[in-house]
Amino acid sequence: MDPYPPPPKPSSSAPDEDQPSSSANGHSKPDLNGPLLPLSKRPKHGVCVASEFVHHETGVARLNNGSFGSCPASVLQAQEKFQRLFLAQPDKFYFDTLQPALEKSRRALMPFIGLKDAESTEEVALVDNATTAAAIVLQHMAWQFTEGTFHKGDVVLMLHYAYGAVKKSIHAYVARAGAQVIEVPLPFPLSSPDDIICEFRNSLRLGNSNGRRVRLAVIDHITSMPCVVVPVRELVQICREEGVDQVFVDAAHAIGNVEVDVEAIGADFYTSNLHKWFFCPPAVAFLHSRKGRANSLHHPVVSHEYGNGLPMESGWIGTRDYSSHLVVPEAIDFVNKFEGGIEGIRKRNHEKVVEMGRMLAQAWGTDLGAPPEMSCSMVMVGLPGCLAIQSDSDAMKLRAHLREEYKVEVPIYYNSRRRVEAGEAEPTCVTGYARISHQVYNVEAEYFRLRDAVIKLVNDGFKCAMLRSTSQ
Ligand SMILES: Cc1ncc(COP(=O)(O)O)c(C=O)c1O
Repeated sequence: MDPYPPPPKPSSSAPDEDQPSSSANGHSKPDLNGPLLPLSKRPKHGVCVASEFVHHETGVARLNNGSFGSCPASVLQAQEKFQRLFLAQPDKFYFDTLQPALEKSRRALMPFIGLKDAESTEEVALVDNATTAAAIVLQHMAWQFTEGTFHKGDVVLMLHYAYGAVKKSIHAYVARAGAQVIEVPLPFPLSSPDDIICEFRNSLRLGNSNGRRVRLAVIDHITSMPCVVVPVRELVQICREEGVDQVFVDAAHAIGNVEVDVEAIGADFYTSNLHKWFFCPPAVAFLHSRKGRANSLHHPVVSHEYGNGLPMESGWIGTRDYSSHLVVPEAIDFVNKFEGGIEGIRKRNHEKVVEMGRMLAQAWGTDLGAPPEMSCSMVMVGLPGCLAIQSDSDAMKLRAHLREEYKVEVPIYYNSRRRVEAGEAEPTCVTGYARISHQVYNVEAEYFRLRDAVIKLVNDGFKCAMLRSTSQ
């Protein structure tokens, strides 16, 4: 027996209470008031989830923790305390409170990223976000080209699915300084980590041919779109075997989502956002540099601490609000209220999002884009091919349509390679995927809302082309 509530029937059948009702103009509209459970009825885990996320807009099925994360009320309160402390006596705050509080945050983080040695705090800097961390590492690489340590034409390797902003940074900093950029082509959908390992090894060898050397490999730990957990340890190991100078892991989505052990991964530089899956307020990330590397990095915003090591430099980059960097201990207090702490949260998120992903795929007659072991608290679910997603712009418009008409927030991915492979004439080929997230505040009803919205679009004969003319 199907354990889930039934999806809506085709629009010719009589609507019932749980199904979208018809509007006066004849177009059927979803019931925007149901069927989400009120927050007070949502499952608890020894912490009042309802009051911790009471600031979330009600009535929105928020299936996109991945993009901007979420921050509970208790952590926001702690952040506000720091903001007020600063405003109460700014000089005392800057000269007495700030540096020790930053160090406390860095120290609190260590067991969560696989660092045991007390001196390793020197290897960890807090920065605003993964974009800033990338700028720090890439600027460092650019100097090595301009100062002649690396040669014009030496290679920077990145995955085809590297985050768009990071790709732009690679071009802005390193390619401009003389590097040649090689992208590792990756298949999607994929069935095994070997699909990635094999392509990566081939690209690395190409990069090291014709008198060139791969100076930097930028590897995502979890790619953003499409979302896939990358076999990062194996790829770093391959880089070592092939003599790559430096490896930067962009793990923007990793902490709180998959296990993070920076020593076992063994990259030179590893960054992860704390505001995505670790319940910190925006914006804060950590950047770990392998022993001996931290002193060569500099914050792109130069201030009084220049030359005193990245952790110090990034702790004073002019007058600004540092409060998001100071509440890591409170975010840890929050996760520790849950059974199994952050590991328990990760495990439950993963299990639930895979279950919901399978439920959606079954209802839509599609598949997941990657096997569960290559997924985390996010999975990619194939959307029915008849929606005819034919461009990135279609994907964005469909996402906006789901937000505006159905109150579902979910990113949509357009898989251009799949469409070309299947041939333009194949009308039912899956060209789009929904990236669903699961975080502690999510409930099943939100995924049913997405399921039913897509089924309704299919039943109504919707095609993405219909959105093209209306939004120009
Ligand atoms: C893989 C990856 N890298 C970098 C970033 C940038 O993160 P931020 O916008 O917090 O700097 C993201 C954001 O989603 C990402 O997914």
